[in-house]
Amino acid sequence: MKEELDWANLAFGYIPTDYNVRCVYKDGRWGEIEVSSSETINLHIAASSLHYGQEIFEGLKAFRGADGKIRVFRLEENAARIQESARGILMEPIPTGLFAEMVRKVVKLNERFIPPYGSGASLYIRPLEIGISPRIGVKPASEYLFIVMVTPVGPYFKEGFKPTNICIMREYDRVAPRGTGRWKVGGNYAASLTAGEHAHELGYSAVLYLDPKEKKYLDECGPANFIAIKDGKYITPASDSILPSITNKSLQQLALDMGIEVEARHITVEELADIDEAAAVGTAAVASPVAEIHDLDNGNRYIIAKDGQPGPVVTALYHKLRGIQMGEEADVHGWNTIIE
Ligand code: PLP
Ligand code: COI
Repeated sequence: MKEELDWANLAFGYIPTDYNVRCVYKDGRWGEIEVSSSETINLHIAASSLHYGQEIFEGLKAFRGADGKIRVFRLEENAARIQESARGILMEPIPTGLFAEMVRKVVKLNERFIPPYGSGASLYIRPLEIGISPRIGVKPASEYLFIVMVTPVGPYFKEGFKPTNICIMREYDRVAPRGTGRWKVGGNYAASLTAGEHAHELGYSAVLYLDPKEKKYLDECGPANFIAIKDGKYITPASDSILPSITNKSLQQLALDMGIEVEARHITVEELADIDEAAAVGTAAVASPVAEIHDLDNGNRYIIAKDGQPGPVVTALYHKLRGIQMGEEADVHGWNTIIE
């Protein structure tokens, strides 16, 4: 970097870094970790990832803490989830130890891109796996490439920790019932682009998807899970067509620690009239408070943040989570991996 990055004003976008790490699965085994400074790969034109979407990914973050240490949040959970995604679309699961070693290595190699403590930014870690064997018949590959790249990022919702409006649009589904929604498969995101862009054009930060079978229950919120606070309880949709969010799981634990009851269950659209707070939660989104939810099919408007401010429970959970990630709060659940 010739000049320092403007850490406090980073967007959620791609900034080149010094290195990425790669590993190939071939002849029934994973090879050596390769450190690369190239931003491109050489790929067979008939690779199964290009033709039939054999691609899965993850998203996690490294933080520079108050004590100067580097912390990566819950990397074993991301390893377990990418293994589930691999099994979901018949790819080769990466072993947890190899995943962890590659994450550590790429973070350390790109240490100068970890945003400073207090900037509000972090180093986004993006592991991905693709099928690289040539396939024209619709069949899984036998060879896979696993890459971990990193890029410094600011908040996913550019408003940061400020309530935004989201919308319900029944004309779009992101995934099918019993489909790939519970896995982090690239195709799910391709399938969300039309709805997402439509919502952005209308001024909404994200789409609140409904369950694709009955369109009765809340599912998830763009690239994040949906949570709400109702009568002092933390409620979140139970659904097999949403991604099991590690942020949501962590916030549920923090809520329990604060003596807040947690319910993972079906939440009907009508129930939105009775909730006190809501947020879209995820690694990129952290906990992004919801101001209003507009049902574009019937004109119903659910005003959640009545004074336009984030509610007290979402605010407390957000600060607790950030505090643990930054090393300001005790990591009592052992969620952080310190990179030395
Ligand atoms: N739901 C979807 C569709 C996502 O892409 C993400 C992001 O990873 C999440 C939820 C949140 O998951 P996590 O908290 O593990 O990042
Ligand atoms: C994340 O939160 O890590 C995600 O993967 C969301 C995203 C697709 C930007």
